Order: sequence, then C-alpha cells, then structure tokens
Amino acid sequence: MNSVKKAVIPAAGYGTRMLPASKAIPKELFPVAGKPVIQHIVEEAVDAGIEEILIIISEGKEVIKSHFSTNSDLEDRLILRNKEEELKEIQKLSNLARIEYQYQPEQKGLGDAILLSKSWVGNDPFMIMLGDTIINPISETQKLISSFLAFQSNIVQVREVAPDQVSKYGIMDGSFDKDKSLYKVNKWIEKPSQELAPSNLAIAGRYIFTQDIFKYLEGTGLGIHNEIQLTDAMQAMLRDNTCFAQVLKGRRFDIGNWEEFIKANIELSDFENL
Ligand code: UTP
Repeated sequence: MNSVKKAVIPAAGYGTRMLPASKAIPKELFPVAGKPVIQHIVEEAVDAGIEEILIIISEGKEVIKSHFSTNSDLEDRLILRNKEEELKEIQKLSNLARIEYQYQPEQKGLGDAILLSKSWVGNDPFMIMLGDTIINPISETQKLISSFLAFQSNIVQVREVAPDQVSKYGIMDGSFDKDKSLYKVNKWIEKPSQELAPSNLAIAGRYIFTQDIFKYLEGTGLGIHNEIQLTDAMQAMLRDNTCFAQVLKGRRFDIGNWEEFIKANIELSDFENL
C-alpha cells in the first residue's frame, strides 16, 4: 500500500462550546503557545511526512486560508524593519505543505465534512486530523502511519480516559494483539455509560483510512444531533474491513473546550514561573 501523503483537516464546525469567543474567530485559529491550533496540526502533519493537505472550511472561516497564504505587504514591512526572525516564521507558513480548501455548505457533522474530501483523496490512503485537537508529542502521528503501513489496515488513534469520562466520547471495544502492540477493533460505541463501556479507550482525533471509508459514509444517515457521524461509518466499515487502534502515548487536547484549551496553553508554553 502507498505511504500516507494526504491529510484532511475538518475545520468547518460552528464551535458552539467556545461561544462567544468562536463567533467571529474560528476556534481552529485560537492561539496555543503562541501559534494557532491549526498551525500546530499542519506542522504535525508535515513532521509525519504528509505532503498535501485539504482543510474543510465554511463561510466566515476564510481567515484560516489567510493564515497560510503569502502576505507580501507584511513581508515587505518586516524586511524594512530588519525583523528577520518574524519574517522567517511568516514565510515558513506559506511553504509548509500544499494546502487546498473545500467548503462545507452546511455543518452537517464530521462525517459530512470528510465525505466532501472524496474526490480530492482519490484512491490514496489518507489521514484525518481533527482541526480542534492537538496531540503531544507530535511524533505519535508518525507512529500511527508506520503501523498503518506495517499492518496494511485502517487504524485509529485512541487514548485512555478516566472511567467516569467515557460517556463523553466514542469508545473502542477491542482485543489486544500482543505481537502487533495494537488493539483489533470489534466495535465503536458512541458515548456509552460507565457501566456499559467495554473499555476506557476513546477516539483521540487522528485516523488513517483507505478510500473505502467513503462508501460507508455515503451509506450513513443522519445520527445524533442530526449530523452525519464519522463513528457510525467506522462502525459500518467493521463489517467488511479490519481496523486497528493504537494507544496514544502522550496528551491530546481538545481545544474546543475551555479547560483543555487553557491546559494546552500552559503545558505547551515554556513559561518557567507560571
Ligand atoms: P466538533 O464536533 O468538535 O466541532 O468537531 P464543532 O461542531 O465545531 O464543535 P461544537 O460541538 O459546536 O462546540 C471536530 C472538528 O470537526 C470540524 C470542526 O470544525 C472541528 O475542528 N467539523 C465539525 C466540521 O468540519 N464540520 C462539521 O459539520 C462539524
């Protein structure tokens, strides 16, 4: 199977949990340790060998595009003022990777956002990286790609959560394969109660799929909140395809939630006396 060179970053959601801060400024552009969340994600992708990125945006979120495009006036100004460091940082941004954009006309859920990438993805395997989720260390993403290539199977990054938190997440039911150091997934269960949860391993926000996922997304109707849920398509895909889960050895911050946004800023900034 080809290596993974493409990534889709869905960033078209309303970010209702972060209102009113997210009304005019996309949460994906909120700063974490001095740079926008989505820049952390693009850098993580590039570090893992991704060459092409498709960012799913919605009307009003074009400012995400501006962040990664060239701004000649700003560059000229930085040259004039001898701000070499800042100039390098700004120029780096427009050369990180080949980035394209796709509009999601209606916010019909993560599954709908991913479905819109179908023709861009073509026949290549690809990674999905949630636009509001930071992984630390970023080298865990490279490890996910290595496992995908070694075992030639769809693979999802999962992370341990406290048992009383399982009802907030998509949870994995699976059996540990000692030889591979991965879980073989039997089932995905959306937001189970603590009593019914088969594990405390929750979907972390990085997934690698073959193009087969699109067939199942197309067959997925509206789920909870009247949205097309990626987890529903992942569950349907298990009927005919193997999927592994790799446990994240590190932290995952959902910056669509205030507490984790603050924690990410504290943990990823190197302030000495905070
Ligand atoms: P979330 O469910 O966390 O984002 O989706 P949301 O819907 O914006 O947040 P809340 O629940 O209203 O606060 C994870 C990622 O998927 C994108 C979001 O922008 C986020 O980066 N997304 C979500 C889309 O691109 N389209 C959608 O229809 C929904």
